[in-house]
Amino acid sequence: MAKEICDPAISELYKIKELCAEKCVDADIQKALSDAITLAEARDTYCQSISSGPSEALAALQRQTLEYPFDQAYKDGKTKKKLNHRIMSGKFEGTFLQSIVSMSKAKRVLEIGMFTGYSALACAEVLPEDGTVTTLEFDPFLEEVAKGFFAKSPCGKKISIRIGDAKETLLKLAEEKAQYDVVFIDANKDGYVTYFKTVIETNLLAKGGTLVFDNALMNGGAYDMRSTNKIALEVRKCNEYLKSRNDMFRVLVPIRDGTFIVRRKEDVFL
Ligand SMILES: C[S@@+](CC[C@H](N)C(=O)[O-])C[C@H]1O[C@@H](n2cnc3c(N)ncnc32)[C@H](O)[C@@H]1O
Repeated sequence: MAKEICDPAISELYKIKELCAEKCVDADIQKALSDAITLAEARDTYCQSISSGPSEALAALQRQTLEYPFDQAYKDGKTKKKLNHRIMSGKFEGTFLQSIVSMSKAKRVLEIGMFTGYSALACAEVLPEDGTVTTLEFDPFLEEVAKGFFAKSPCGKKISIRIGDAKETLLKLAEEKAQYDVVFIDANKDGYVTYFKTVIETNLLAKGGTLVFDNALMNGGAYDMRSTNKIALEVRKCNEYLKSRNDMFRVLVPIRDGTFIVRRKEDVFL
């Protein structure tokens, strides 16, 4: 399986390394370059190895998602879109999310974009017994897959799945007067600004609540101004929009593909 590289600077180093080999550049320079790549990659590996790891249930969920035949499921007409295990958050981000949920003493988590349920289960594991995770997903096929994983964990019972377009489901939840302490936004990137505005304007975010946006760096496309990747441009637009919100307190943490934490200033500066 191809290695996941979220840092475009490392990808550039790999390209230079290939070029050096092609052009038979001095062996010392090639060695120095390889050492630089190893060191740059060691940073994330080290952070992950020192941080807490996943539970058995999460590790199994991740393993089985990595092995899942999504291409076949698409060919068989089971999934609406072609899915790929790369969209799963995974263990490091999962541990980070667990820290946010537990530090904020959250009881109600809303997730926009479930996939096979890694982040939903990660959040459920750190909630109290009466805590809940409501997770929104577009593709009905994923409900079956995720339910299978949730059934294998005692925390799975805290999770409820709402299938449909998240824009509509959010409005339904607002009508139901639902409120959440942590909202994790991880679905289609062109919907991020709308999701943010809906959550804030319809009062879905409880007082003192926290919003977490995933993929806020989008493989570096958010800050690499040469990038013309459509999805990266959407993420950049959302980041800029959030930056323009003077009522919001923000920190973009360069974990994995970038995790953007946003809170109302009135909840931070009491
Ligand atoms: C990046 S994945 C979510 C990964 C997941 N949070 C995890 O940690 O493994 C995004 C998911 O959002 C779903 N999605 C995309 N557009 C959506 C929409 N408009 N409404 C609801 N879900 C959507 C996709 O089907 C996909 O499963």
